[in-house]
Amino acid sequence: MRAKDIREKAGEEPITMLTAYNAPDAAVVDEAGIDMILVGDSMGNLRLGHESTLPVTVEDVLSRTAAVSRVTENALVVADMPFLSFGVDEATSIENCGRMLKEADADAVKLECGEHTVELTRRLTQLGIPVQAHLGLTPQGENETGLFRQGTDEESARAIVDLAEAHEEAGAFSLVLEHIPANLGRIVTERLDIPTIGIGAGPDCDGQVLVVDEVVGLSERVAPFGKAFGDVRGEMQRAVEDYKAAVEAGEFPADEHSHTQAELDDIY
Ligand code: KIV
Ligand code: NA
Repeated sequence: MRAKDIREKAGEEPITMLTAYNAPDAAVVDEAGIDMILVGDSMGNLRLGHESTLPVTVEDVLSRTAAVSRVTENALVVADMPFLSFGVDEATSIENCGRMLKEADADAVKLECGEHTVELTRRLTQLGIPVQAHLGLTPQGENETGLFRQGTDEESARAIVDLAEAHEEAGAFSLVLEHIPANLGRIVTERLDIPTIGIGAGPDCDGQVLVVDEVVGLSERVAPFGKAFGDVRGEMQRAVEDYKAAVEAGEFPADEHSHTQAELDDIY
């Protein structure tokens, strides 16, 4: 799957995207036939024990993107660029984004967007680094904007539409829309040719994205716009408790787990 294939799916068939943060996640997601895998900076709160995405580093995303890419055969792998790894100065932004393709075999990068990423998107695209734009709620800006629904009044809705069009014009191959009113998700989708991928942006986007931890039921909480389709956390808890109980009861390891015996009788 290449950026061009995703772009061509817009308006044809619903596009599916999920996060993955390591090889086993990615193997499951890819085998299920999901179109795009996002190595999200949501790894900060979901997998690395941070309280937000802000502490996530380029090295964190590089190592996990490399793990995901090693086992992904079909999906497009998107590396999520962490806070302040882009947008400060152009040369450093290009270097950090380029490392995701050169060192971690990503197929594209995702940028939380604003006025400051329009020209960067143009430059990266010219250089052969496909860009997925991200507008609406952009969690890296939480200290400025809070973690609230965006685009709820006319002025901020208009700003999102304008930035969406600017990033499309600059060459972005798709656009993530996070936590905006459903009618704004529809309006942006109608105005753009490139696919919109919604998370809390209503049913009219060209595709949907969620974090895999919520979908499989690994995280303790699910966002109001997310949904658990399984209970991996409950199953993991049960298995770990059963293991502990079996060791404590002397039931594990049993004979069938212990069938190798060295010939030590002469020595001891
Ligand atoms: O980091 C992430 O998981 C994301 C998605 C929620 C779009 O940016
Ligand atoms: Na993110």
